[in-house]
Amino acid sequence: MSFTATLECARGLDEADVLAGFRERFEMPHDAHGTPLIYLCGHSLGLMPRAARTLVTQELDDWGSLGVLGHESARRPWIPYHENFVAGLAELTGARAHEVVAMNSLTVNLHLMLAAFYHPRGKRRKILIEAGAFPSDRHAIASQLEWHGLDPHRTLIELAPTAREDAVSEEEIEGTLQQLGAEIALVLWPGVQYRTGQAFDLARIASAAHRARCLVGFDLAHSIGNTQPALALSGADFAVWCSYKYLNAGPGAIGGCFIHERHLGTASRSHLAGWWGHEPTTRFLMRPEFHAAAGAAGWQLSNPSVLSAAPLIASLEIFSEARLVRLRAKSLQLTGFLEFLLEHLAPAVRIITPAEPAERGCQLSLRVDGARHVFERLGAAGVVCDWREPDTLRVAPVPLYNRFEDVWRFSERLVQVLGSTA
Ligand SMILES: Cc1ncc(COP(=O)(O)O)c(C=O)c1O
Repeated sequence: MSFTATLECARGLDEADVLAGFRERFEMPHDAHGTPLIYLCGHSLGLMPRAARTLVTQELDDWGSLGVLGHESARRPWIPYHENFVAGLAELTGARAHEVVAMNSLTVNLHLMLAAFYHPRGKRRKILIEAGAFPSDRHAIASQLEWHGLDPHRTLIELAPTAREDAVSEEEIEGTLQQLGAEIALVLWPGVQYRTGQAFDLARIASAAHRARCLVGFDLAHSIGNTQPALALSGADFAVWCSYKYLNAGPGAIGGCFIHERHLGTASRSHLAGWWGHEPTTRFLMRPEFHAAAGAAGWQLSNPSVLSAAPLIASLEIFSEARLVRLRAKSLQLTGFLEFLLEHLAPAVRIITPAEPAERGCQLSLRVDGARHVFERLGAAGVVCDWREPDTLRVAPVPLYNRFEDVWRFSERLVQVLGSTA
């Protein structure tokens, strides 16, 4: 196995790739000399769809030429702006259209969902999350527990893996729910774990939670646009996500929520309200009573930031043309190719992401000594990936814009960097 042979293989795979043309729809970051960087960081911030510039400019132009009249007369009127996202988000999350809404940002949405779904009562007060959860999720959960007058040390269960070092199995989650379920009010789990890249079987986790009579929500930050979450089928009660990673909607872009239809409708309304969630035909009568709009749209609080939401329209259009099922098929090949190259050419690197394709998305997490130093050397060699304390490099080839050759170039440079730092 040589680098030369595998480069030919990478180029052959790129030539055969029916999705290769989508790369042209994105801006490619480059260095100070204009040389394109090897960008494998879509798990952190996705690349900019070229059409995003046009869409944002159109909104600025409409604002400039129409002022307040743009609420109704912009080419995409601002009052029903959230409707632009419904079909695309439903498709990517496997939800029914009335179950999804683009609004706020991820942590804000998580708090809103916890306000609606976390009701500690009697013995059932605890929340189950994974050990090593993304800090913002843990902060949100711990602060909600405290807000209810509870001590997180006693009421937060953080499940660590026992059989495998870096991956919690669904069996372990089921076991915990069987054992402690009567004390658990709510389960919050990631679709894909941010540090390890492990993807979970959401339907299995949701049914285990429901068997134990717990509510269950998912954080899809690393899953949406990457894996196929099938939320409606999973039966999850709620989910939240951001759209700046695999959804390519730009830094700080609008987030999103899924609320299962069993929780929708005024009869079961238990969420915090704001005027943008008001039924639209009577919203501007400015009456004091709140009448929720149908579906997840009724959970909106404020009028959305059109400028931060516009790029998502460009991105969802690309997803709808490329189709998630084809992207996932290419993603399995791309990430499999990365794994193959690392196993054969960089055996010192330990891949901590599960090897089973169903248990991962685009990302591979690599345990390397001195990860930060390796990351810096890779950066100097024109590679954009990232690292997380203490020793994990995260690398994600994204099927919309990465080529097999990018994966090859990354692997070659990693081997060089490791060789020179050994
Ligand atoms: C898993 C996960 N949860 C929560 C967040 C926080 O997102 P936000 O800053 O959009 O609230 C992130 C951000 O990267 C994340 O990866």
